[in-house]
Amino acid sequence: MSTVFAAAAALSLPISLSRPAKFNTRKGVRAGFRVFAVFGEEGGLVDKKNPWGTLFDVEDPRSKFPQCKGKFLDVNQALEVARYDIQYCDWRARQDVLTIMLLHEKVVDVLNPLARDYKSIGTVKKELAELQQELAQAHIQVHISEARVNTALDKLAHMEELVNDRLLQDRNTTESDQLCPSPSTSMQSLDTVKGKSPQKSLNVSGPVQAYPPHLKNFWYPVAFSADLKDDTMIPIDCFEEQWVIFRGKDGKPGCVRNTCAHRACPLDLGSVNEGRIQCPYHGWEYSTDGKCEKMPSTRFLNVRIKSLPCFEQEGMIWIWPGDDPPTATLPSLLPPKGFEIHAEIVMELPIEHGLLLDNLLDLAHAPFTHTSTFAKGWSVPSLVKFLTPASGLQGYWDPYPIDMEFRPPCIVLSTIGISKPGKLEGQNTRQCDTHLHQLHVCLPSSTKKTRLLYRMSLDFAPILKHIPFMQYVWRHFAEQVLNEDLRLVVGQQERMINGANVWNLPVGYDKLGVRYRLWREAVERGAKQLPYSKPM
Ligand code: FES
Ligand SMILES: [Fe+2]
Repeated sequence: MSTVFAAAAALSLPISLSRPAKFNTRKGVRAGFRVFAVFGEEGGLVDKKNPWGTLFDVEDPRSKFPQCKGKFLDVNQALEVARYDIQYCDWRARQDVLTIMLLHEKVVDVLNPLARDYKSIGTVKKELAELQQELAQAHIQVHISEARVNTALDKLAHMEELVNDRLLQDRNTTESDQLCPSPSTSMQSLDTVKGKSPQKSLNVSGPVQAYPPHLKNFWYPVAFSADLKDDTMIPIDCFEEQWVIFRGKDGKPGCVRNTCAHRACPLDLGSVNEGRIQCPYHGWEYSTDGKCEKMPSTRFLNVRIKSLPCFEQEGMIWIWPGDDPPTATLPSLLPPKGFEIHAEIVMELPIEHGLLLDNLLDLAHAPFTHTSTFAKGWSVPSLVKFLTPASGLQGYWDPYPIDMEFRPPCIVLSTIGISKPGKLEGQNTRQCDTHLHQLHVCLPSSTKKTRLLYRMSLDFAPILKHIPFMQYVWRHFAEQVLNEDLRLVVGQQERMINGANVWNLPVGYDKLGVRYRLWREAVERGAKQLPYSKPM
């Protein structure tokens, strides 16, 4: 059993978990925790009467800190301690920001012309100099808090990794195969460890069932703006329904059923004229809200086809396929500052979007699967880990310099540190000078098809954008990489349909994929509180 030796000591950090270097053996890591509980900080600053109210009126968590001085803790207790550490950091950061805001208020007071009437210039100068000094000190404090948060998050991720590893290990010793497969994604609680809380296990097997309505109540990116001209159409399948996107007279995109109200002809075989889509069969014309505005050669009938909320933002077109009212804001998917978009590629793939997401959220397969492309020549690490806070859908891969995030409902964002194109280097993305940023949107077209939107950005070599035909080179490379995955995932899909569980035996590096499945399972059953989700 892993133990943690808790010792009382006064350090500058509220808690310090001293552990061996990151790449030590697992045995060494497991044995090496020491917990120092520290309360040497000055008291909180919160003045309850301050005008920022709830933001800063947060209870000082130190009173609730688990009493662990001098005690042995198991990993679960140590994880609890690490969580308190985060709570403390949060409280501390709020105090720091409050200090700065109060100091700014004082500066405004000093500079107030009314106050200046009864103060000499010398006094004002002196007060300002003092405040400036205090502000500089407060800014330093903020940077310290920032560093503490990073350290605390690292520790939390590490502790969580250990807890997960141990649960998986315990489970593997008692569990060799999965319980009865059911034809859908479901959760099973397996009592595997005597006296321990039950370990959750995933079951994703059988044909994918009709999509539950809750999964539709999200904004879904469906196309890149650059692909939709004033007179073109983009047909898309989304949740087993056919839609077509085109631009109205005002240039704004609209999304309507891709089925003519007259005799069900596909509208995308027609054309777009003056912001209306015209059916190629008898010429009926529809506006972007689905209203039929022209019906040649017959008496006009008041007819409408279904349309969806459709918006354009930051180079992408989004739809809301659900029945609930859409949320007011669209998420931003732009690459971070300093990156330029080099390629936008769309592919229609013969696999269910969940299987594609599982694949994209997994990096451990790279040295086995991508042996002809980006992972050519990679050695196989002795241990691959995905490090993430306990509540997060984002984190980083160890030992790869890759940050990754699952962004609900169907998006993967990743930043890859590179030094020379094609070469992975360094131990985290921040240590690399140049980066590649990837966006993968996996639109659920049907239970066996996905529309993949891929956007690639670089923070170096902007010249590549101006090389003719570069788009084709990027597309070729993206297709090569994807084909290496596809043959495997198509095989998984066949087996899944026949009853195999594609999440039969998750291990440590499967963490992000498992979290995606847990998130999706909660959405599909209509859970009020979604796991890992940030409030929108
Ligand atoms: S089927 Fe579309 S106009 Fe007749
Ligand atoms: Fe892959």
